[in-house]
Amino acid sequence: MSNQAQIAVSYDVSNDFFSLWLDKRMNYSCGLFLNPDDNLDDAQVNKLQFFYEKTRLTRDSRVIDIGCGWGGVLGYLTRDKGLRDVVGITLSRAQYDYLSQQDFPGAEVACINYEDYQPDRPFDAAISIGMFEHLASPEQARSGESVEIYRNYFRKVWSWTKSDSLFGLQTVIGGRIPRRGAALRELAWATYAIFPGAISPRLEVIAAAVSPHWEILEVHTRREHYRDTSQAWLDRLIANRDRVVAESSEALFDDYRRYLSACVRSFDEGYQSLAQLVLRRIQ
Ligand SMILES: C[S@@+](CC[C@H](N)C(=O)[O-])C[C@H]1O[C@@H](n2cnc3c(N)ncnc32)[C@H](O)[C@@H]1O
Repeated sequence: MSNQAQIAVSYDVSNDFFSLWLDKRMNYSCGLFLNPDDNLDDAQVNKLQFFYEKTRLTRDSRVIDIGCGWGGVLGYLTRDKGLRDVVGITLSRAQYDYLSQQDFPGAEVACINYEDYQPDRPFDAAISIGMFEHLASPEQARSGESVEIYRNYFRKVWSWTKSDSLFGLQTVIGGRIPRRGAALRELAWATYAIFPGAISPRLEVIAAAVSPHWEILEVHTRREHYRDTSQAWLDRLIANRDRVVAESSEALFDDYRRYLSACVRSFDEGYQSLAQLVLRRIQ
């Protein structure tokens, strides 16, 4: 699992830096481009609405967002949908500081590792977007430990929820292995430099690990949507180059341009894809 120092490399760079190229709501995950004229902001709202519908939330639902980032889900559920009992957890100090300054009525935020989190009351539903990739490290995946790590995660979320709860899960998944050494090196560099300690699971490994706690109701793969999301992020980063360099550094701009370019290529070529799963709690 990524530890707090590794999470800091990925997310504590600077909240202002991320605001220069993410959407208005600061979602750092794949959006859904459902209509031909959808822009990045629309695509992110489509994604939030997708999980809102798929987890069948009402104003009275008590929900946890595991790995809540800068609050895309928290803001959508509380401000747009009127929920009043939403909990978000993140392991990033910088995200927690940002969230502490937001007005999300009815939301509670904690900076805590999910392994140490224990709710005082069970939830009706869970959502987790772009956090699953941090659960197993590349070394753990190579030594065959990832199924057990993922199963422990699913057991934990099971223990936090009520019978028949729905769980909306979104994660990058591994695709075909690059044949070109350069493509392999770019993916390895992005993991090492931008997401240390993280690895994209394979879909079949997730499917094996949900059992015996959750039943898979739906799986959607969204490879093209993550290519388009990454391209939109890259375009915005490049459009804001002068501000990034003035407020941070040329090296940071170069690293993120390289990483986002590698993402566009890897989703385009099918080295990575994106999965959205709807799970139902067993018992
Ligand atoms: C790629 S970001 C996605 C954020 C948000 N869900 C979104 O879609 O914008 C991954 C999030 O997972 C959180 N995270 C990673 N490992 C975690 C852990 N062990 N416990 C709690 N949060 C974790 C990070 O702090 C970060 O907020």
